[in-house]
Amino acid sequence: MAIDYSEKIPNNVDLAGDRRLQRALESWQPNFINWWKTMGPAVPTEDVYLRTAVAVGREGWAHFDHVVMEDYRWGVFLAERNSDRRIAFGEQKGEPVWQQVPGEYRADLQRLIVIQGDTEPASVEQQRRLGETAPSLYDLRNLFQVNVEEGRHLWAMVYLLHAHFGRAGREEAAALLQRNSGDVDSPRILGAFNEETPDWLSFFMFTYFTDRDGKYQLGTLKESAFDPLSRTCEFMLKEEAHHMFVGTTGVDRVVARTAELMREHDTEDVAPHGGIPLDVIQKYVNFHYSVSLDLFGSEKSTNAANYFTAGLKGRWQEERRKDDHVLTEDASDVETVRDDAITTEEVSALVALNHDLRTEYVADCQTGMKRWNRVLENAGIDRRLSLPHVGFNRQVGLFSGHHVTPAGDLVGPDVWESNKDRWLPTEADKTHVRSLMRPVYEPGKMAAWIAPPTKGINDKPVDYQYVHLA
Ligand SMILES: [Fe+2]
Ligand SMILES: [Fe+2]
Repeated sequence: MAIDYSEKIPNNVDLAGDRRLQRALESWQPNFINWWKTMGPAVPTEDVYLRTAVAVGREGWAHFDHVVMEDYRWGVFLAERNSDRRIAFGEQKGEPVWQQVPGEYRADLQRLIVIQGDTEPASVEQQRRLGETAPSLYDLRNLFQVNVEEGRHLWAMVYLLHAHFGRAGREEAAALLQRNSGDVDSPRILGAFNEETPDWLSFFMFTYFTDRDGKYQLGTLKESAFDPLSRTCEFMLKEEAHHMFVGTTGVDRVVARTAELMREHDTEDVAPHGGIPLDVIQKYVNFHYSVSLDLFGSEKSTNAANYFTAGLKGRWQEERRKDDHVLTEDASDVETVRDDAITTEEVSALVALNHDLRTEYVADCQTGMKRWNRVLENAGIDRRLSLPHVGFNRQVGLFSGHHVTPAGDLVGPDVWESNKDRWLPTEADKTHVRSLMRPVYEPGKMAAWIAPPTKGINDKPVDYQYVHLA
């Protein structure tokens, strides 16, 4: 179904055909706009060169134009329905997917949707003030693009809550605007979404590592037997790809500039020359990667097993897996700590599903390392960046309560304390990075700590006026 833009709420779910639902969403809409005005981007703009979804098909789904951000057409877009779709995994494998929520899974599905929904506005809140220090108009535009799309992802989840979970769903939808990132009394649900994003290096790391966690979570929900959730997530993944592009290329450009300064001044300490030293970049990698690993939950999880067996949440690329998709007979190895050593433990494959998803994620994160190391190699620099061990700096799962070095050695609290400043960003590191954060709002100009992008957005030149500030 085509996206109807003549409606107050753009959608391809025939909202006009369900007056009650339409009215309920229209009464949530002003609260959303109010949230956007108070918790959304702090820098006032006239308009921004943004992409808006106009179709959900493979080709030509997006339209680019200068738009007033408050008038952005947030809406409800589901991927095309496949009427033959069947459940791909779990004990109901092979049966038709569900168009309505089965009573016995109501609570679990609502919880999964609320947790996913909570992360979307959270990141907008975390990134609220970043526009004040954008390294270029190109970057400012990318930040706003990510922000409006996270706002739309909130719409995606709120639609499901309103359409399928009755009064409880509407209450949860309201609560998604009442919790706020870092709020002492009503924080966001997941830890990583209460951390601040105080500078652009953090933003690029967040969009690389934490949005990528989002990609993997959405990938599991895309497999869901609850078809509206599956179709929603499929379309969200399309938008999500740009967020990770922002992270990947953002770090590319920071590393490239650092390498340039290292060569120019023949030193690793590029801080006095206005750059971000490689060891600080490494510490930011260590931090953002480890907090993002926590988002996968505990390596051993009976919840994950139950969700899979029930058909609520599948594995990454479930249908490409070459096994029985039921997993009751299978086993899996997970890393754990036993008798003061890191070892592996064999557990039922069902119980290890969070670990399975995390393993896919880790492999994906490695591609960024390769890319950034190629930038260093091409610049003739010998040093390399790397992902720390999965047990490093963990607050959730089998490694929490233990100290593991980036190299993967289990150490005592004394060793941890005396070395953690070498592994995680210190106050001095953060202060230095923050000191570089000065806005550059002239078209085509870049802050000195970051290299320019190789090309602009949607074939526009890098020096295009991507944002008109108010
Ligand atoms: Fe999102
Ligand atoms: Fe995202």
